[in-house]
This record gives sequence, C-alpha cells and structure tokens, in this order.
Amino acid sequence: MTFSIATLRSLDEYTFVHSLNVSVLALVIGVESGLGRKGLIELGVGALLHDVGKAIVPVNLLNKPDELTDQEMAIMKLHTIEGFQILRSQPGVSLLSAHVAFQHHERMDGLGYPRGLTGDEIHCYARMTAVADVMDALTAPRPYRRGLLPDQARNLVASLGGSHLDGVYVSILVNRVSVFPAGTVVRLASGEVGIIARQSPSDPARPVVRVLSDQSLQPVAPYELPLDRSPDKSIAELLHDLPDTLRSRSARIPSRD
Ligand SMILES: [Fe+2]
Repeated sequence: MTFSIATLRSLDEYTFVHSLNVSVLALVIGVESGLGRKGLIELGVGALLHDVGKAIVPVNLLNKPDELTDQEMAIMKLHTIEGFQILRSQPGVSLLSAHVAFQHHERMDGLGYPRGLTGDEIHCYARMTAVADVMDALTAPRPYRRGLLPDQARNLVASLGGSHLDGVYVSILVNRVSVFPAGTVVRLASGEVGIIARQSPSDPARPVVRVLSDQSLQPVAPYELPLDRSPDKSIAELLHDLPDTLRSRSARIPSRD
C-alpha cells in the first residue's frame, strides 16, 4: 500500500490531490448507499488508487495541452489495466479494490474502456468511483481546459446519469455534496469578493455569501448576500485565498457553522 500511494504522489500533484478528492466523494456515495465497514474500506482503497496505473503514462502525456492522438490515447487507456495489475499484486489490497482501477472508465452505455462493459457488469465500487472521478475532474483546471465552477460540474454530472454514469449514484452525489462549502472564497460576477457563509436550503448552487469588498477589492462593512434571493448576482470564480486588501479583515470574521 505504501508503495502505491508513494507511486501516486510521484506521478504529479494533480493526480495525487484528485485521487484524494475522488476517494472522499466515492465514500460519500458508499455511505449513502449503505455499504458496511468492509465495503467502505474496499471502495476507499480502490478509489484512492484508481489512477495508480498512470505510473506507466509519460508525464508529458498526462499534462499534454492538446488533444491526444489515437496512439497516445491508446497508451493513456492502458492505465486501467496497469492499475489492476499493480493493485492485484499488493498484499492486503482486495481484488475488488483492484477492479475499481480496472473499471473506472467503463460507462453504463458500454462506450467506456478497457472492455466496454455495460450497466451491472461494472462493479458498483467502480460505478461509484466513476461518478466521483468525473465530478472532481470537471472542477480542476488542467493544461488542456479550464475547471468548471462546482455548480456547473454538478449540472454536467447530473446530465450524464444513466448514459455515462450510474444514475442512482449521480443522484446521491448531486444531492449530498455541497457545491460551495462554507469558508470558500469567491468572486462574484459583479466584482465583489466574499466568503461562503452557509448554504441556502432552497438552492445549493446559490448559497449565502458574506461580502467583504466592493468591485475594486476595497474592504466594505461585511454583509450577507443570499444568492437564492438575488437573481442579478452570481458566483464567477473560486479564489484560493483572500486578496491582500482583505487579509487583515479576515481575521475578524467569526468562524462559520
Ligand atoms: Fe483514470
């Protein structure tokens, strides 16, 4: 196991962080689906290591900004088979966890790879992980595309339920995951910067934002803006941190629920 996680991190930071996110999201689905302790461990290990087979894919291919050629795509697809081979040979790793690596790019409609399995032919752990994988991958900026906002990713994942992804697991994740967690720093389309204060019960995609700055990033007396009741306002961007002009003020923000 230690070997596999170290291998994962050495691939590139994106794959490592993505894998952690996928395992958390897959476990949300697993818990909601009623998996027991053993099942959750098998799922969590499989989801955490689902991309470990990318160890055989050259890094310049993983991060290639342009579309992959057919030949490059064929190499990329091998990460499923390679991941299966790596995990099945690890003592202590369940064969079902290894199948998550093997099957996480299969699709419900049979258009996935490496074997073109359909529906229930795909193990439920792999179907759960596929939903988590797509959800997290869509939000991450990559060299070949910008990341979507979480609510946009959520809508896109919802549209893939039934054809590409398992519709039941899609519904679970879409309904359970907070697309804009409290504490997230956001910039509104109108330019103001604020922090997500809490969710709106009526619409998870339009939370309550505690606005901290005006459009010029100058501090204002903080106020709460419920986006579900402000149709002319919307979130344009997630920020990694507060702008410098707001740093001192952030220390006085009470902790959120
Ligand atoms: Fe993958």
